[in-house]
Amino acid sequence: MTIIRGERMIIDGKSISQKRKDELKLKIDQLKQEGKRLPCLAVILVGDHQASQTYVRNKERGCQYVGMESQVIRLSSSISEEELIQVIDNLNKDNHVDGILVQLPLPKHIHEEKILDVIDPMKDVDGFHPVNVAKLVLGQEGLTPCTPQGMMVLLEEINYDLSGKEVVVVGRSNIVGKPVSFLSLKKNATVTIAHSRTKNLKEVCQRADVLIAAIGKAKFFNKDYVKPGAIVLDVGINRDENNKLCGDVDFEDVKEVASCITPVPGGVGPMTIAMLLENTLQAYLKRKG
Ligand code: GUN
Repeated sequence: MTIIRGERMIIDGKSISQKRKDELKLKIDQLKQEGKRLPCLAVILVGDHQASQTYVRNKERGCQYVGMESQVIRLSSSISEEELIQVIDNLNKDNHVDGILVQLPLPKHIHEEKILDVIDPMKDVDGFHPVNVAKLVLGQEGLTPCTPQGMMVLLEEINYDLSGKEVVVVGRSNIVGKPVSFLSLKKNATVTIAHSRTKNLKEVCQRADVLIAAIGKAKFFNKDYVKPGAIVLDVGINRDENNKLCGDVDFEDVKEVASCITPVPGGVGPMTIAMLLENTLQAYLKRKG
């Protein structure tokens, strides 16, 4: 954790993610010592989307690091919906496979919803299946989406109690905005979900004790959006005018007023893989037990 100028803190997602992966590694080592079958994550990559290839490679490396097994199934972008469903169905039935992740986005001719529906909810390590979404909304235990779960862990790591706090989530995606809102609600926060049609966005954001930026617009949020002392979590992964990686938050500007802020890269991003690996272990233990 980097502390700058007394009260202000840059949340080091990279080292928190590393710590969680090291803790996982110990648990997997224990399973190995006991001669148990190891957790296995299957990742399906359809087509040759550049960023997806990098993400999938990182997931594979994450599995290797903690000592889990992984399978990457690379399929042609011309695969039919029926064929892809068949691949998933085989993985559903494969007792050796604990987690199934279909890397998004999928080619246009394939309906994402239809595909996510087919994954066995017990193996749905992305937490995108309607059963797991319903469990999250109902406050029941299930598999929860990795990036939102990662943000909750970051808040835990800085010992921040969400109870009674104002959380403003900007962005209403199924992957980030909606799930992080329900996770915050579960922690007794007062949650506002803002989006592209929200009126007076600045004023809404200024209410936030915790501002979650997830709209995919480079450096959109400057310090005018941030209450002094607020915590700012930046989910954006964008390129700035110099083609440099940046978040949805204007980091240099906002770090002057926020009490804690995540950088991009090295903030929320690295948490996603650690949470995916944790979800895979959770799915393994649940299926086993
Ligand atoms: N593409 C971008 N983010 C994600 C994610 O969290 N899960 C999957 N499956 N695909 C993604």
